Amino acid sequence: QPQAESGSARTMSLVKDAKTERVSIDRLRTLDRFDAREDDVLLVSYPKSGTHWLAEILKNLYHCRSPTHPTGQVTLTQPLEFQDPSKLGELKNLPSPRLIPTHLPKNMVPRELQTKQCKVIYVIRNPKDTAVSMFHYYQQNPHLPKVDKWATFLDMFLKGEVVYGSWVDHLLSWDRSDNGNTLFVYYESLKKDLPKCVQEISEFLGVKVTEDQVREISKKSSFREMKARVEKEKERSDANHIVCALTSDRKLIFRKGAVGDWKNHFTQDQNSQFEALLGEKINSSELASSVEY
Ligand code: A3P
Repeated sequence: QPQAESGSARTMSLVKDAKTERVSIDRLRTLDRFDAREDDVLLVSYPKSGTHWLAEILKNLYHCRSPTHPTGQVTLTQPLEFQDPSKLGELKNLPSPRLIPTHLPKNMVPRELQTKQCKVIYVIRNPKDTAVSMFHYYQQNPHLPKVDKWATFLDMFLKGEVVYGSWVDHLLSWDRSDNGNTLFVYYESLKKDLPKCVQEISEFLGVKVTEDQVREISKKSSFREMKARVEKEKERSDANHIVCALTSDRKLIFRKGAVGDWKNHFTQDQNSQFEALLGEKINSSELASSVEY
């Protein structure tokens, strides 16, 4: 059951402050009624870590398994925290496997997803690049507060006063996943060798693909192709594409798609401040310490 306790309540009030007005503790409590299935796949991320990228890879992977099926036999749902309480029942009718995105920390995810040992894919990205990506997103997304200055935004990010709260607390909440059902995927690794990552993800999910299919999936999920496709879209016509909890305008998602853009934004002082404030916590996480930040 989602536990709406103080830290989590604070996170969610930050989401609410973002004027989405769509998430509340009451709504999260309705997730108690969520019926998890053993073959559900949870796509977890802190915002701006590459969630849409992973969703694209996963859809294409499942599509290889059932090429004639219109959605490749995977059903990409709306984010867990934005499920309409009155429609939770509709989820029951969705065919398996369901691919369920969420930005929630672990203690807020329905416990049944854990007891049923559903597979979890957690996307992790260098927090400095994540902060830069989120800064630009704040500037463009009308649902988020206006923050014009990078320095102001970085300060908010370091204090965890942005949507979904602290980056490092989010990661630490998922860090100690000991049941072998969680695959941690690094944005930087995807950038470095996408086919290798696609292969690893397919093995984790038990979806068999050929080398040609891995190449095809990597091509379809390249930044260039994804951005070009979205630019041709008139509006959110394909429900099987929507994963962002904070916008329905997918054009806002594909900005630069680069590793290391933080170097164009951080001053030396800001970099030192970042490391002084988050460094110790980051190094306490086995996962984050593998990210070059
Ligand atoms: P930037 O703002 O740095 O460009 P999310 O999907 O979690 O909201 O993450 C969005 C970030 O992932 C954006 O980062 C976006 O450009 C990047 N992204 C999305 N698809 C990508 C792809 N195929 N390759 C590389 N980066 C991608």
